[in-house]
Amino acid sequence: MSKSIFIAASPNTEPDDLELSWKLIKNKKQADSLANVEALELKLGEYFTRPAICFDSARSSFYSLLKAFGAKEGDEVLLPAFSCMVVANAAIWAGVKPVYVDCDREHFGYDLANLRNKVTAATKFIMVQHSFGSPEDMAQIREIVGPEVIIIEDLAHALGASIAGEKLGTLGDAAIITFGIEKVISGVRGGSAIVKDATIAKKLQDFRNSLPDFPKQKARLALWNPIFWSIINPVYYLGIGKMTLGRLFVWLGHKLNIFGNMIEDCEYDVCKPEWLPAKPSPALCLLALNQLQKLARFNNIRRCNASVYQDELGRVIPQIPNAKPIFLRFPVLVDNKVKVLQILKNNRIVAGDWYKSILFAPAKSLKKLGYIKGSCPNAEYCSAQIINLPTHIHVSDIDAKRIAKLVKPFLL
Ligand SMILES: Cc1ncc(COP(=O)(O)O)c(C=O)c1O
Repeated sequence: MSKSIFIAASPNTEPDDLELSWKLIKNKKQADSLANVEALELKLGEYFTRPAICFDSARSSFYSLLKAFGAKEGDEVLLPAFSCMVVANAAIWAGVKPVYVDCDREHFGYDLANLRNKVTAATKFIMVQHSFGSPEDMAQIREIVGPEVIIIEDLAHALGASIAGEKLGTLGDAAIITFGIEKVISGVRGGSAIVKDATIAKKLQDFRNSLPDFPKQKARLALWNPIFWSIINPVYYLGIGKMTLGRLFVWLGHKLNIFGNMIEDCEYDVCKPEWLPAKPSPALCLLALNQLQKLARFNNIRRCNASVYQDELGRVIPQIPNAKPIFLRFPVLVDNKVKVLQILKNNRIVAGDWYKSILFAPAKSLKKLGYIKGSCPNAEYCSAQIINLPTHIHVSDIDAKRIAKLVKPFLL
């Protein structure tokens, strides 16, 4: 029986992370200690040699950054259409108008010709997402948007990647990181802003300190999340037909609200959940800190698995000169995506579907998000054809070869 592989079910968790979660469940004093937040900010600050200010999530970090940079009504922010709606929501909450830029079909970053067309006199900000961990051409982007536009890097897929030895996150005016469950390092939930300018950093810190605490109940449940997945994953497919232990556990997990809601219902209507933005959870900061110490090893494994996919599939994701990508996931465009995902599932492999629709949003949300259908044709095409192959630490090169073999006949 071949091993089960899940791209999104707590993919970064190791025994020491489980031990830490369990310790924090038992020791409330340690879980609530503000020293945890300070320790994570210190380590991030050392890593980037720029101040780090943590929040409940990356979306809140982005919202707070826009505010700290003095965003005002009428300002425009350039955003990738091939991304997640929570980033666009944060811009709208801050009163800024999102202007969506198309992607290219090979690297899934900005289509630079399209970007050039979208810059106007009202452009004040640009978010640069290094999709799947492949660095964007920061020098060209700066040249296109001009010296006045504030560049914020989105490291959701790319923490640890670099260009010519310079870390992503230090190549713009600021950056956001997420510690979401399926991202580069996981604290289940959380995020940080990284800021170049000391005055903006101070503003951001003061703003963050004025925010409400992360709800303790949410943090306590989140601590169970990696433990729960570590129990479910090995037995997920045990059972008969569709009646598997995994399905039962997942149903139970949702009932007990252990999985939390990464996107709350009201966010699909572009509304801001009342509790956002908030301070980070000290307990979840400690989980993220433990993972940060393992970042280089995690990314080396991802790079090795990506190189197996590249060799086996004969598909190379083009990189800019001197780029060192991390390949959080390995994206491929396939014919008949539904069928490919099902074939993988039949082989106990759950692959990914970033970004299965523009802004990963249901059709009803797109109008509210200000996206005009047909305006980013490449992103629409990629959304329809893309799947993401797992590169995480629980995937071996033998697993990657097995996955590649299943996917290869459907490659576009
Ligand atoms: C590219 C990208 N950036 C940022 C975020 C936001 O992260 P968070 O869930 O911490 O707000 C996401 C969401 O999942 C994302 O996919």
